[in-house]
Amino acid sequence: MALNRALLRLRASTSFSVNATRSPTSSLFSAIRCLSNVPENTVYGGPRPQTSAERVTLNHLRQKHRRGEPITVVTAYDYPSAVHLDMAGIDVCLVGDSAAMVVHGHDTTLPITLDEMLVHCRAVARGATRPLLVGDLPFGTYESSANQAVDTAVRVLKEGGMDAIKLEGGAPSRVTAAKVIVEAGIAVMGHVGLTPQAISVLGGFRPQGKNIASAVKVVETALALQEAGCFSLVLECVPATVAAAATSALRIPTIGIGAGPFCSGQVLVYHDLLGMLQHPHHAKVTPKFCKQFAHVGDVINKALTDYKEEVTSGSFPGPDHSPYKMSAADVNGFLNELQKMGLDKAASAAAAVVEKTEKLESPEGENSGIN
Ligand code: KIV
Repeated sequence: MALNRALLRLRASTSFSVNATRSPTSSLFSAIRCLSNVPENTVYGGPRPQTSAERVTLNHLRQKHRRGEPITVVTAYDYPSAVHLDMAGIDVCLVGDSAAMVVHGHDTTLPITLDEMLVHCRAVARGATRPLLVGDLPFGTYESSANQAVDTAVRVLKEGGMDAIKLEGGAPSRVTAAKVIVEAGIAVMGHVGLTPQAISVLGGFRPQGKNIASAVKVVETALALQEAGCFSLVLECVPATVAAAATSALRIPTIGIGAGPFCSGQVLVYHDLLGMLQHPHHAKVTPKFCKQFAHVGDVINKALTDYKEEVTSGSFPGPDHSPYKMSAADVNGFLNELQKMGLDKAASAAAAVVEKTEKLESPEGENSGIN
């Protein structure tokens, strides 16, 4: 196939894999998703459009930041959520390890594995062709050594189809990890403030930067991650004053979550912003900073209850949702075969359905289809 050949050629010009995807906003099977580090004029694939209307790269984010335009980031974990983000024109799609909680139902982000994250990454890469794709390095896959960090980051790009990775924390070993991953040619987003992977030492999901020492630490670690080469930083659950100070001190964009309005952009978790989990328990544990832009969970609950009622009462599926028909001749043949097989009861059941359907479709009773 021509498309396969194009993909092979593209692979030859880069060490990373690419995904051929159908653009969700167009019916043309034409969009080959290039990673952000594919050069603008690919040698063998011909020049490819690099406008932010086509796909977002680090350059577009830098330009937006320079112009003071807020950057939009949302998490996604599967094909449908990725398609929704793409259609909404979100700049960055973060395959967050929050998947452990909102998709897998764990109480923390710690249990999710790299293999599980890679499944989420691949599904998202198939669904989102325009946003920059950032994949989280899960807990336990990058802390041991710089080599481990690079190996994991490479897998997130090669096997997950991501454009960049995100890692949490600003301890010296994390700054080193960020630096070596960038040196390996992989764009890194940092994450400071509340870093959920460190829940064990933080003593819970607690806001950070609320006293002088902690606020200074947020700014210091942000600066260290910038020096390590991060292209952007998530600031999670810090006072707006601290986020404003960090944003002002940095040259790279800050992406806030529970960090007030004075960041270069904002990120929210897909399920939180859509109001997916409307069970009273989840409503209680949804973070205070999260605005629900919809109550999709209520819509889902109502649809499932309606479905259950209609199946129970027999009103679904009705004629409108029973589209498959047999010709009158085939019905006759089928009834004869059933009788030959000794399945008289089954033949009567089938005949009764034909009669009932005929009555519903032409109440005058013409042409029953059974002789
Ligand atoms: O895992 C995640 O979803 C995140 C965001 C909350 C920034 O890290």
